[in-house]
Amino acid sequence: MGRRAIYPGSFDPITMGHIDIIERSARLFDEVVVAVLLNVEKKPMFSPEERVEIISSINRWDNVSVDTFEGLLVHYAVEQNAQVIVRGIRAVSDYEYELQMALMNRRLEPSVETVFLMAGEAYSYLSSRLIKEVFKLGGSIEGLVPDPVERLMRDKLK
Ligand code: PNS
Repeated sequence: MGRRAIYPGSFDPITMGHIDIIERSARLFDEVVVAVLLNVEKKPMFSPEERVEIISSINRWDNVSVDTFEGLLVHYAVEQNAQVIVRGIRAVSDYEYELQMALMNRRLEPSVETVFLMAGEAYSYLSSRLIKEVFKLGGSIEGLVPDPVERLMRDKLK
């Protein structure tokens, strides 16, 4: 049986940092499911359906698929027969929250292991939240998200 990993997140929108983590996960695991969390943020820039469409359009890996999930992540992981949850860690500041989630998830479902991957240092300061803020205030986000995503973001502002 192959190793299947879930890479969960909001991905509103997907950034170069996320893509770097997907790339690394696709090399490590037999299958990777990028799982977009449904219905949490009150005012997302992109709907979950749009986010799935965006991620699918830039999916260049044979072993990566895109899906949505709701409810507990570990329930979804079990349902998907996944053994691993992948999370990207950028800086020490991410660690505390990620540790809490990993330990809670382990308590809820000991059969699922959380694996942390470090994105390339060029992406270590990227977050969807900051990218949206800079973009809305007129700053350049070139190179921080894929070009099609930047175009779609521009359409949203129109
Ligand atoms: O990209 P994000 O917003 O940092 O991702 C957070 C995410 C989706 C991984 C987290 O919020 C999550 O797993 N939500 C699902 C609900 C759940 O399982 N909560 C308990 C986590 S300990």
